[in-house]
Amino acid sequence: MNGECKKMLPRCSFPMLCIAAMLITTQDGRSADHTDAAAAERGYRFLTENALIPPDFNQTTFEEVWQAWPEPLRSQAAKLSPAERRKMSYERYGLTLRADDNSGKPLQYVVTPDGGWTMNCFACHGGTVYGTPVAGAPNNRFALQTLTEETFAIKMRQGTPPSRMDLGAIAIPLGTTNGTTNAVVFGMGLMDQRDEQLNWILVAPKSFTNHDMDAPPWWYFYKRPSMYIDGFAEKGHRGLMQFTLIPENGPDFYRRYEENFRDVLSYITSLRAPKYTDVVDHSLAENGKQLFNANCSECHGTYESDWSYPNRRVPIDEIGTDPVRLTALTVAGRKKYANSWFAHAGEHDAQETLIDPVGYVAPPLDGVWASAPYLHNGSVPTLWHLLHPEQRPQVWRPVSSQLDTEKVGLTIEEVREVPDGDAELDAVVRRSYFDTQRFGKSNVGHNFPNRLSEAEKSAVLEYLKTL
Ligand code: HEC
Ligand code: HEC
Repeated sequence: MNGECKKMLPRCSFPMLCIAAMLITTQDGRSADHTDAAAAERGYRFLTENALIPPDFNQTTFEEVWQAWPEPLRSQAAKLSPAERRKMSYERYGLTLRADDNSGKPLQYVVTPDGGWTMNCFACHGGTVYGTPVAGAPNNRFALQTLTEETFAIKMRQGTPPSRMDLGAIAIPLGTTNGTTNAVVFGMGLMDQRDEQLNWILVAPKSFTNHDMDAPPWWYFYKRPSMYIDGFAEKGHRGLMQFTLIPENGPDFYRRYEENFRDVLSYITSLRAPKYTDVVDHSLAENGKQLFNANCSECHGTYESDWSYPNRRVPIDEIGTDPVRLTALTVAGRKKYANSWFAHAGEHDAQETLIDPVGYVAPPLDGVWASAPYLHNGSVPTLWHLLHPEQRPQVWRPVSSQLDTEKVGLTIEEVREVPDGDAELDAVVRRSYFDTQRFGKSNVGHNFPNRLSEAEKSAVLEYLKTL
């Protein structure tokens, strides 16, 4: 453990966690047995301080990355101090500082004492709420593809060898729209190279169905018995280790770090949603709650202190949202997981894995106001648009990091089409457009809100702010 980390420990260094720990003992008796605040704190530290895979790039490369930016950005950056440039780089790639320390390190990367930067879980699972970094909030601004391309360009100039991420990005696209990633396919690609006990095997490279997903928030995880949008895998600490399946990490690695991932599971389970602090019309919200309970809770559950969560899987034809993710994770891929160490196969506590789920599971809606964009592929920018299926924008992009408090979600502009594939266009700007015509990015489906009148939709929208 380094000095900074020791310095942080005496105070309650992770406010969300402390609040969560209080909630656990006071309100939510059901979680109290499973969640240990000390283990949760260790889990958070583990994720932010331990590089489990070799670095993606180093500090020097990151400090110079502005030299790979398009004009006029590069000339602007050239005039600034290194600290100001760093700030611009964080902004450009969707990185933030950590809420609980002043190390200047990003939440989304582990930075080792020798200056190596390794992506951690918060790259996708650590975003902002009201402009403040929140671990566990989905990172809807992460620009992984652009960050990888631009750091790679600097490495080429520096004569620094490419990283695994650079090479991986050649075979598997990392993400075509900012804030979404091809994460599920990375997992499959890595697992493909292993047998069930995680030993290395030689297989011909396969082609996968690349598609981008929007990471879910971690603050509703405590309610879920299973993981992922189709709920195919039972919840467990081992399943969380898939991202580390790189060649350097042999089967021993998994047994060695297993305890740490129990802490990570405790940490994720300890999180709770942030609170909406803008104006709420409470009588309208109360009306919305009745409507929600009558029309939505059969799938999404209820949100009182005696909450319920049905974990309901809705067949793909009924939900009608983009179907790519469901089959992109193949039956063969799921079988492999089912028979692997990750699912405790052959052990007394073997998990149940669904080989062929028929649809998507309705997620809990805790803190849903803070987790835009919506649907598993992130195709719908606001809750208002989710409630108005016919009026969802076809091509849109975020134009501000401020929450749109009227429609509740991302502040966007809608455009007719993505500006023509002009090579001059800044990659970060180009990838800020969400084009729902593209593969895996459809915004249709989930037409259940159409049961409601316009006035009723307004009431439900008000209620969703309070979850
Ligand atoms: C590159 C982006 C990315 C990174 C890095 C990442 N995840 Fe995820 N994570 C996702 C996406 C996307 C999903 C949704 C997958 C799905 O539903 O099929 C997800 C889903 C999950 C879920 C399931 C949540 C639920 O309620 O179903 C958990 C838990 C999780 N990730 C934990 C982790 C942990 C722990 C790490 C680090 C070891 C990590 N993730 C790193 C993108 C990422
Ligand atoms: C028959 C089950 C069902 C009903 C009824 C239902 N939903 Fe859903 N809902 C789902 C499923 C499944 C998803 C996930 C779809 C996806 O991501 O492709 C979802 C997704 C959502 C999301 C997006 C969550 C996110 O984080 O992306 C919101 C918000 C939502 N529903 C609100 C509502 C509201 C409000 C109602 C009532 C008017 C409602 N739902 C009725 C099944 C249902």
